[in-house]
Amino acid sequence: MKVIMIGCGYVGLSTGSVLAYIGHEVTLIDSDAEKIAKLRAGELPIYERGLQEVLRASAGRISFTDDWDSFDSGADAVIIAVGTPIGEGGGVDLTCVEAAVQEIGARVGGGSMPVILLKSTVPPGTGSEMKALLQQKLAMRGMKSRISVVSNPEFLREGQTMFDSFYPDRIVVGIESDEEETFLATLYRPVLLQDFTPPLAIPRPGHTRLPPLVATDLTSAELIKYAANAFLAVKVSFINEFANLAESVGADITAVARGIGLDQRIGPQFLQAGIGWGGSCFGKDARAILHAGKRHQAELSIVRAALDANQTQRGQVAKKLGARLDTLAGRTIGLLGLAFKPGTDDLRDAPSLDIIRQLVGGGARVKVYDPAAMEKLACEHPMLSVEYCPTAESLFEGCDAVVLVTEWEEFLHLPYAELGERMRAKLLFDGRNVLDQKMLTDAGFTVCGVGRSDADGGREWLGAV
Ligand code: UDX
Repeated sequence: MKVIMIGCGYVGLSTGSVLAYIGHEVTLIDSDAEKIAKLRAGELPIYERGLQEVLRASAGRISFTDDWDSFDSGADAVIIAVGTPIGEGGGVDLTCVEAAVQEIGARVGGGSMPVILLKSTVPPGTGSEMKALLQQKLAMRGMKSRISVVSNPEFLREGQTMFDSFYPDRIVVGIESDEEETFLATLYRPVLLQDFTPPLAIPRPGHTRLPPLVATDLTSAELIKYAANAFLAVKVSFINEFANLAESVGADITAVARGIGLDQRIGPQFLQAGIGWGGSCFGKDARAILHAGKRHQAELSIVRAALDANQTQRGQVAKKLGARLDTLAGRTIGLLGLAFKPGTDDLRDAPSLDIIRQLVGGGARVKVYDPAAMEKLACEHPMLSVEYCPTAESLFEGCDAVVLVTEWEEFLHLPYAELGERMRAKLLFDGRNVLDQKMLTDAGFTVCGVGRSDADGGREWLGAV
């Protein structure tokens, strides 16, 4: 099929390259000329595992342009994958989606009509509105032909977008006719049947079962996206709140998470307690659906609670360190990790940002190290007063406490015993519960985690500060 992808962000690039890999002829359009020039030169504007290899393997079937005039009105599918940020009033800003629809409406027609896929995350009802807008645009051009607008939300995890595109748990489509369902089943056929040869960088996992095509109406498909993200955010906030209780009653949240996660009705994923969730989607989508709920007189109190609990959770680091160190004023705190999760340099809605503000606000000197996100912090948040450390090792120098904020693999293997000697006081806050507590206590550290009793059993060590 001939496919046009509008938007070259994480979603557009990953999905576009996978569609090309499985045999379609894909053109990606983005208004950012610089990004397009880079892509044409073989450079990637983002890092995603396997993307480079898949793009190379698909060369000849994939092209990039910033010129709407090269829009092929004979395409079979046009996929809208542009950004939908939160707007000023708290609702979703649909400017980019509407602009794409206008451009499409000005160009399609004449021959056969492409099917329009709405992949951007949009509030329930938007698909129908965009369809009406397109129909109106066509009518203004004197065309009476019917156009198909379908919803096709994505569930791609950053850092894993290629894996998630090749081996999705499901493909959700919001449709209005059997023909539309057949069309989408054909578009995604190799993924649904898993009969493509996997790229070397993204091998097919052993357990793969065929992903079902979940076909429903447009609005339900749109709501599935929000419900999925909100549910995952609720799940993490839930375990984080229980982590706080576990600490107070002397229980271990990792054991609790394992104990409940083995119940198949609950499942083990997204039960990793920590210093809070972040990223470009959870917070944005939770706020957007709360806003939509309000407009439709539906109170989503659990989603609101998940957001509130997350904000409280981010505050735990400064609160606990303040208590542990008697004061934050004049203390030196090192943050191991900045990105909202490992494997990315993304700082959007990262807990580290709030943690830095709170620590600095309390009068602490903050040192930071992240293997990928330091440049971004300097560029995007120049007002944050932090000291950048060139290595994880140098971060420990003179610290009263070090906090593991992002669970990068390399942080699991640092020579902690040696690094502890460089600190003023050996306090380590494992904000992701990933370090070996026994190894750290043996090395003389006082360790506190999230939802675990302190390894030293109390505050006696404070005399050392
Ligand atoms: C998420 C959804 O998973 C994806 O389906 C959607 O399309 C976009 O949003 P992403 O933002 O890439 O993906 O991150 P994800 O891996 O889901 O993690 C989100 C946040 O939750 C991270 O900050 C992570 O550290 C945190 N998290 C996740 C936990 O704190 N504990 C967990 O057990 C799982």
